[in-house]
Amino acid sequence: MIKIAPSILSADFSILGKEVKDVEKAGADYIHIDVMDGHFVPNITIGPLIVEAIRPVTSLPFDVHLMIENPEKYIQNFVRAGADIISVHTESCRHLHRTIYQIKEQGIKAGVVLNPATPVEMIRDVLTDIDLVLLMTVNPGFGGQTFIPNVLKKIEQVKRWKDEQNLTFEIEVDGGINDETAKQCVEKGVDVLVAGSYIFNNKNREQAIEMIRTRVSE
Ligand code: DX5
Ligand code: ZN
Repeated sequence: MIKIAPSILSADFSILGKEVKDVEKAGADYIHIDVMDGHFVPNITIGPLIVEAIRPVTSLPFDVHLMIENPEKYIQNFVRAGADIISVHTESCRHLHRTIYQIKEQGIKAGVVLNPATPVEMIRDVLTDIDLVLLMTVNPGFGGQTFIPNVLKKIEQVKRWKDEQNLTFEIEVDGGINDETAKQCVEKGVDVLVAGSYIFNNKNREQAIEMIRTRVSE
């Protein structure tokens, strides 16, 4: 069963709690939370305060995507705020292995993220240590961008390594996901689909999620 993680970046922030409840009711599996610092990416978004504020409104796991410099400094804050999975970019971690264990020591799941131009070899030596591999299918920073098809062969490679070593981490994609690109990714071995604008721009979130589920199972 494919998991769907609506990215609240495209939600209406004036009624954020209601938006989170709405996608939970619509069948979401995770709530994807995009944290940006204006340094690692050219945009500023959500901090631990917002995460804490929406924690009581849902029981869905919070999938926190840190697009920030020095992520190791903020892990504990996001754990306290209610994160269930924290993913860090290889491009912002000088000591990736150490940061992964800093996350796991907090008793939550750890993920690693790769930008579209970063080769998958960067995570090969930590594959046995992680719970999630997030492959960016756009350059991080904004919602509503176009899917980069070159990432498909990276999914294939990560899936091959996963099967060869009998590993259980989930493969997630993020950026430009709609029913069509979702299908392409799932065919290559993706387990979790992040979708922001595709879900939140549709007034009927249940229909949007259902569209993805139907299309990927065709
Ligand atoms: C991009 C974020 C994504 C974004 C996806 O930097 O990491 O999670 O919200 O938005 P869509 O699905 O609209 O491309
Ligand atoms: Zn994201």
